[in-house]
Amino acid sequence: FKKISTGKNDKGLKLYDPGYLNTAPVRSTISYIDGDEGILRYRGYPIEELAEKSTFPEVAYLIYAHPMGVLVNALSALSVFHPDANPALRGLDIYNSKQVRDKQIVRIIGKITTIAAAINLRLGGRPPVLPSNNLSYTENFLYMLDSLGNRSYKPNPRLTRALDIIFILHAEHEMNCSTSAVRHLASSGVDVYTAIAGGVGALYGPLHGGANEAVLKMLSEIGSVDNIPEFIEGVKNRKRKLSGFGHRVYKNYDPRAKVLKKLTEEVFSIVGRDPLIEVAVALEKIALSDEYFIKRKLYPNVDFYSGLIYRAMGFPPEFFTILFAIPRMAGYLAHWRESLDDPDTKIMRPQQVYVGEWLRHYKPTKERT
Ligand code: ACO
Repeated sequence: FKKISTGKNDKGLKLYDPGYLNTAPVRSTISYIDGDEGILRYRGYPIEELAEKSTFPEVAYLIYAHPMGVLVNALSALSVFHPDANPALRGLDIYNSKQVRDKQIVRIIGKITTIAAAINLRLGGRPPVLPSNNLSYTENFLYMLDSLGNRSYKPNPRLTRALDIIFILHAEHEMNCSTSAVRHLASSGVDVYTAIAGGVGALYGPLHGGANEAVLKMLSEIGSVDNIPEFIEGVKNRKRKLSGFGHRVYKNYDPRAKVLKKLTEEVFSIVGRDPLIEVAVALEKIALSDEYFIKRKLYPNVDFYSGLIYRAMGFPPEFFTILFAIPRMAGYLAHWRESLDDPDTKIMRPQQVYVGEWLRHYKPTKERT
């Protein structure tokens, strides 16, 4: 796309198009109108069909919500169901008691898989499945996703173990962006549901947990090993970042990425090999031998290989960051409890470096230059 003007001597392209009658400034996948034919569709569904069979909340969900947005809201909505979270109770024993806190922690870790499974089933237009008390944590999650309500369904034990390992690797990572958001919110005394919803909101971003979804989109865009050198040139020319590479703290190979790289082969041996793995491995090899990445100490991070495993297991890309949020909940809640137990905890209020005008005196608008 050519900008209106890219430099001093570039007059660029200008269209005179009053009322945008012939100009489309955006690309969109939400609704489609053919005015001549009288057609209106939401995400491809004819409006007549939706008007007859659907409901407004379902349509609002269809046109609007990314699963992570749904998760953020579902978590914060839990506070409405559980009165022990009401900040009006602060100062009372019920609010501060260890038993109540522990109950909240267990409840959230338990409920997040049920909520997540319901979100994924909803993406495929299927009703939620009730959890089974006879299965382990991760097995139960896969059961809710795949059983179609058949109570005797048993998830594949090797896939269950693989997902359990992924959950272990994602459980905690000290003061990352989303965990520090949880601590920040908790420091104001807000209820736990609101604090974790804020954390998941921060995790959603493509520079943080959202990178696993971005990696898969990037690998699909690159498509084949032959296209990697051109893509790498684009990264070095700062047209885009290499998703799943680089880390604020790791200036070496992220230890979690090493385990995940091995795990891809285990998962592929069960469900079949994803051809995008060749692109990922070659991309890593080329990047790690390139001066740009060496100088900046940029290595694969936890998000580089996880998306390939999720895809092989049948998860849609929009769901990948939810698979990060489930295990990271353990870390968020540990930090939440630790901050409440720490006598030195204060409301977080960072300082700033002021770089504005030092002192100015008020002038009426007309006298301002
Ligand atoms: N691709 C290309 N160049 C990069 C990348 C990348 N992925 N990451 C950093 N760089 C470059 C920067 O442009 C900068 O170059 P410069 O010094 O010439 O200006 C240099 O490396 C230092 O990078 P910073 O942006 O200063 O590093 P920072 O610590 O602020 O950012 C971050 C870390 C956000 C993770 C970054 O590496 C990035 O954006 N990576 C891609 C997104 C990603 O994978 N995020 C997931 C991280 S893991 C997690 O949160 C779960």
